[in-house]
Amino acid sequence: MTRSVQVGVLGFGSVGTGVIKLLKQNHAQLLRRSGVDLKIAAIAVRNKRKDRAVRVNPKILTEDPFGIVKDPRIDIVIELLGGIHPAKRLVEEALKNGKYVVTANKELIAKHGYALFSLARRCGVDLYYEASVAGGIPIIRTLKVGFAPNRITDVVGIINGTTNFILSAMDQGRSYAEALAEAQARGFAEADPRDDVDGVDAAYKLAILASIAFQAKVRVEDVYRQGIRQVDPIDIEFARTLGYTVKLLARGSQTAQGISLKVHPTLIERTHPLANVSGVFNAVFIRGDFIGDAMLYGQGAGSEPTGAAVVSDVLDIVYSFGQNVTRRNLVTEYRHVRMLPRATTTAQFYARFELRDRPGVLARITHLLGRHHISVESIEQKLLPRQRAMLVLITHRTLERHMDQALLAIRRLPDVQACRACLRVGL
Ligand SMILES: NC(=O)c1ccc[n+]([C@@H]2O[C@H](COP(=O)([O-])OP(=O)(O)OC[C@H]3O[C@@H](n4cnc5c(N)ncnc54)[C@H](OP(=O)(O)O)[C@@H]3O)[C@@H](O)[C@H]2O)c1
Repeated sequence: MTRSVQVGVLGFGSVGTGVIKLLKQNHAQLLRRSGVDLKIAAIAVRNKRKDRAVRVNPKILTEDPFGIVKDPRIDIVIELLGGIHPAKRLVEEALKNGKYVVTANKELIAKHGYALFSLARRCGVDLYYEASVAGGIPIIRTLKVGFAPNRITDVVGIINGTTNFILSAMDQGRSYAEALAEAQARGFAEADPRDDVDGVDAAYKLAILASIAFQAKVRVEDVYRQGIRQVDPIDIEFARTLGYTVKLLARGSQTAQGISLKVHPTLIERTHPLANVSGVFNAVFIRGDFIGDAMLYGQGAGSEPTGAAVVSDVLDIVYSFGQNVTRRNLVTEYRHVRMLPRATTTAQFYARFELRDRPGVLARITHLLGRHHISVESIEQKLLPRQRAMLVLITHRTLERHMDQALLAIRRLPDVQACRACLRVGL
């Protein structure tokens, strides 16, 4: 006999539309796969009168999301409002009312995930969040199940489509402002793009990925963040001539000393698979002790890919009902692991300076780098008008603290007018 499961959806925006469309369009396939008839019992919105891209029975629309999380008929609640308020209270209420919850809300999971997981555990239900990172790419389930036997040492991702679109457009000759305006016009960037361009969104996602990959308690504050606003087309051009492309990378590494988490623009060798991830696409590169290197690639956002990730969580829940297994998503134990301060970690750097073109200035800069234990891999100088010069150098791998100190000292040299860029190089 076919069992029916009632689903309540909070939000009918971009992701909500993808979810409802999929549940309707692929209903027969979902039924065959799961043996369960997934029924949309109610959808909460802010404004019931708004036109929707997918038609639903108007009777299931409500402006009272709390009514859905308390409704005894509903088995699974899908939270797609975004932000913390009222999403957090709604998720809490749903769990307390014994409902399984699926969310796409990275901010909620990154900031309050542990408290919500433990509430879910106490309530004998579960909280799923596949769509919160990298949209249509099933990275969370892959880390939790597929890669679980490994000790993961590195998780490196292009996990923000907006910045990847902007940097890809800049690689084709656009300025930052032009690329951002194009991203906004095509719906890839918000009117207020700060969370994306300042790396906040990528930091939420990295915190979530690292907590699973390293089975560690990670706070968003543990992630060092440098956005893409200071990336200049000149740097992208220099990077290209040196054989690199610039990407906003979110990178987590685990060593015997602890965990390092950083989001920053990075020069990647053009031959690396991540260098070819362009536009709004996402990719996550994983290194594990038994699998070696692996990479997952796909659409990191958008109504349909993200909607599919949400429905994959619903199926996972339904399978667990079928097997009488509960809380299969909560198996991860989150340990307290030492977080390495950025200054104590290492990186290779690209730096660009503007100088007065005077004899000896180059020697003084390389001398200061040497005094801070930094050796230079390559150096290029370009003359500018009015007896000025642009100096671009790439260092060998060094302690971040040494680079901080060297830059401070170099900026104080009388012939150095500015350090225009300091970006990291390589994985
Ligand atoms: N968009 C993506 O590609 C994407 C990808 C991955 C993850 N996510 C995450 O998915 C979540 C949803 O994103 P989205 O892009 O779908 O957002 P969205 O387009 O802004 O949709 C939000 C929906 O929530 C409804 N809503 C907001 N506040 C409400 C309230 N207090 N009561 C009832 N309904 C309320 C809105 O109703 P109205 O329609 O009536 O205004 C709207 O339908 C966010 O957490 C986001 O970070 C999005």
